Amino acid sequence: MRNLTEANLSDVVIAMMSGAKNARFKEIMTGLIKHLHAFIREVNLTETEWLTGIQFLTTVGEKCDEKRQEFILLSDTLGATTMKDIINNRKPPGVTEYTILGPFHRPDAPELPSLGSIAGDIPGEPTIVRGRVLSPNGSPIPNAVLDVWQSDAKGFYDLQMPKVKGMALRGVFQTDPEGNYVFRTIRPAYYPIPNDGPVGQMLAAMGRHPYRPAHIHFIISAEGYQSVTTELFVSGDPYLDSDVVFGVRESLVVPFVQNDSKDDATRLGVSVPFFTVDYDFVLEPS
Ligand code: BEZ
Ligand code: FE
Repeated sequence: MRNLTEANLSDVVIAMMSGAKNARFKEIMTGLIKHLHAFIREVNLTETEWLTGIQFLTTVGEKCDEKRQEFILLSDTLGATTMKDIINNRKPPGVTEYTILGPFHRPDAPELPSLGSIAGDIPGEPTIVRGRVLSPNGSPIPNAVLDVWQSDAKGFYDLQMPKVKGMALRGVFQTDPEGNYVFRTIRPAYYPIPNDGPVGQMLAAMGRHPYRPAHIHFIISAEGYQSVTTELFVSGDPYLDSDVVFGVRESLVVPFVQNDSKDDATRLGVSVPFFTVDYDFVLEPS
């Protein structure tokens, strides 16, 4: 305790927790101390660099309020959120992959009928998203609930649109007895995550851009199945291979297929040209 060295400090600090009552807390803190010390030694952290780090974390905290969570953004951009998501959502092959939730989900989105539109009068390229919700053996899941939200054609969520007072580009749909869902929307755009704070400065210093590729968010749930938080990504998007928050999975990249048929457009309640997205989600039994 009085003869502290590079070699024994970690063990000494860990041993100070012998009185900790919560075993899991102790396990987590032990790992944190070990890795934090190893990191300081590995990079030979200087006094100035240590202080820069402290000031950075202070600014991250100061940027947080009821609308902005800069610490989660830091976790997202360092891949920590995705590492946590991957280890907590290991799924058998064929089951829809989980991916990052993000800060823009809102509970209580309006429940809409089949073929309902989440876009209202928000301008954009009309898009039909449709498919089925299935169990791993291919049988349809009726009454599955799809909670959907997305950005507009300029990359803004309703919360970021000064003119929109209530909810927009959000809706809750249910599958029919054959497990089918279908809704109308507009094609989403790629967008930057909030980058006017310390995380934005960190990304710039790292030589990274702040963009997420265009996507539609889903939370899909059904009785007897594990719900899944996921996204569908627009194939061909320039940021698919460099998503700033590491949310893309190959199985979730889908073509937005252009359709110029006036008959199809009339049948589906859209104007030409429009896009169609066909995607079946597969849920894991609980
Ligand atoms: C999103 O996709 O909405 C999102 C995810 C992580 C950070 C910021 C935005
Ligand atoms: Fe998003």
